[in-house]
Amino acid sequence: MTAPIPRDIPLPLPAPEGLLEILLIAAFLVHILFVHLMIGGSMFSLVCQIRGLKTPDYEKLAYRIMQTVTVNKSLAVVMGVAPLLIINTLYAPQFYASSALIGDMWMAVIPLVTLAFLLAYAHKFWWNHFLNIPELHIGIAALETVLFLVIPLIFMTNVNLMLFPEYWPKVTGFFSAMLLPNVLLRYLHFVSATVLFSSLFFVWWTGRKTFRVEVQFSELRVIDVRRFFYAFAFGATIFQILTGLMVFVSLPAQGMSWGFTALLMLGGLVVLPAIWWMWQNLTRPGHLLDDNFKQILTCFACATIIMGIARHDYRENALADHKAAIAEKTINYQAAVKEAGEQAQLAAIKAKENDVAAPGAAAFNQNCAACHHATLPTVGPALQEIKEAYANNPDGIAAWTKAPGKKRPDSMKMPGFPQLSDDELTAISQYILSH
Ligand code: HEC
Repeated sequence: MTAPIPRDIPLPLPAPEGLLEILLIAAFLVHILFVHLMIGGSMFSLVCQIRGLKTPDYEKLAYRIMQTVTVNKSLAVVMGVAPLLIINTLYAPQFYASSALIGDMWMAVIPLVTLAFLLAYAHKFWWNHFLNIPELHIGIAALETVLFLVIPLIFMTNVNLMLFPEYWPKVTGFFSAMLLPNVLLRYLHFVSATVLFSSLFFVWWTGRKTFRVEVQFSELRVIDVRRFFYAFAFGATIFQILTGLMVFVSLPAQGMSWGFTALLMLGGLVVLPAIWWMWQNLTRPGHLLDDNFKQILTCFACATIIMGIARHDYRENALADHKAAIAEKTINYQAAVKEAGEQAQLAAIKAKENDVAAPGAAAFNQNCAACHHATLPTVGPALQEIKEAYANNPDGIAAWTKAPGKKRPDSMKMPGFPQLSDDELTAISQYILSH
């Protein structure tokens, strides 16, 4: 199937392309970090609330977690503006096409996000109102979490569809775009990253001194809570690598390159020491969970940056041909527009020249043609007759026209033309004689 090639709007980029690409990678990573913390927080708050039905301490923990969700959600939204704008700038034709193709769902993001946020606020701010109806409270938390999980799927479907213009003609809306190869695998990879980064965040967050002051557990030990998150972080890391491999295998070949493959391998390698340290912390009694925590975070930070660059690299590879085709089409179009413009200008100049060449023609047609036909006598005598009578005497015609007399007994009297200047009269007379 051949890819449709739209024409670009030839506008200059607001900054050098390389700078925009760097900004895109950096801004996207910051955005997605807070997205992970927002969704992960919502998920963990739900899980802890359910556990809280049996162990009340978990309910306290769920409440504290929910405090982070609304903050991270605001940051996720604000930090999402920059990458969205840069994507719109760098990939305008592709992103426009994919957004339009899944238009209904793409627009639905706005009400879905609004609803998710309102549910999150209800979940958090009305905490005490729901104490006697925990089922309803958990229901709200569950709906909020589901919505938080649906929204990234819409985004992912869009940015995936954008990469593969050859699918555009056969996509018939959101669901067919969602079922294209690798979208759901990418989504699994995303969700496991959410669990990974949010649980690492909560390991750190529950390790702060202030946390112990804020949350007074009756039975639970903070160390157990941290171990709980740590175990999730470890499991999610393994799952992340597995889904990452599956995504890699499922990616369409047109974006593949050795550079991209090397970046992915490097990203995977960087995580290995983190896995080792995490395993040590989890399994060896006497080990503090904070051992090597900074190194572990550094490993993940490096891996994330490498993956962000790799992701961008794949996108550029996948779209290279399409971008070139669009650029060529745009240049050809601009050349055609320029040529058409020049031709129109030439035609206008020619028309003007013709006017100047026969200045009397227009004035004759306007003032005299109604009554003077070239060969037939109508209201007035035919031009042929006038020409014979006034051969070599244009001044005679002008003089008559200025003050017509009465010659032919069967004719009406010709009206006068006081509004015509001498120049116009001369031009008309010459035109009649040369006709
Ligand atoms: C409303 C109709 C009418 C219009 C418009 C008109 N004419 Fe005439 N023209 C006549 C008639 C009628 C005669 C014949 C008059 C007569 O013989 O008494 C005539 C006669 C003439 C004659 C012949 C005069 C002669 O010596 O036999 C000339 C030359 C002439 N017109 C020039 C013009 C020119 C130039 C214009 C435009 C600026 C013009 N006419 C517009 C009706 C018209």
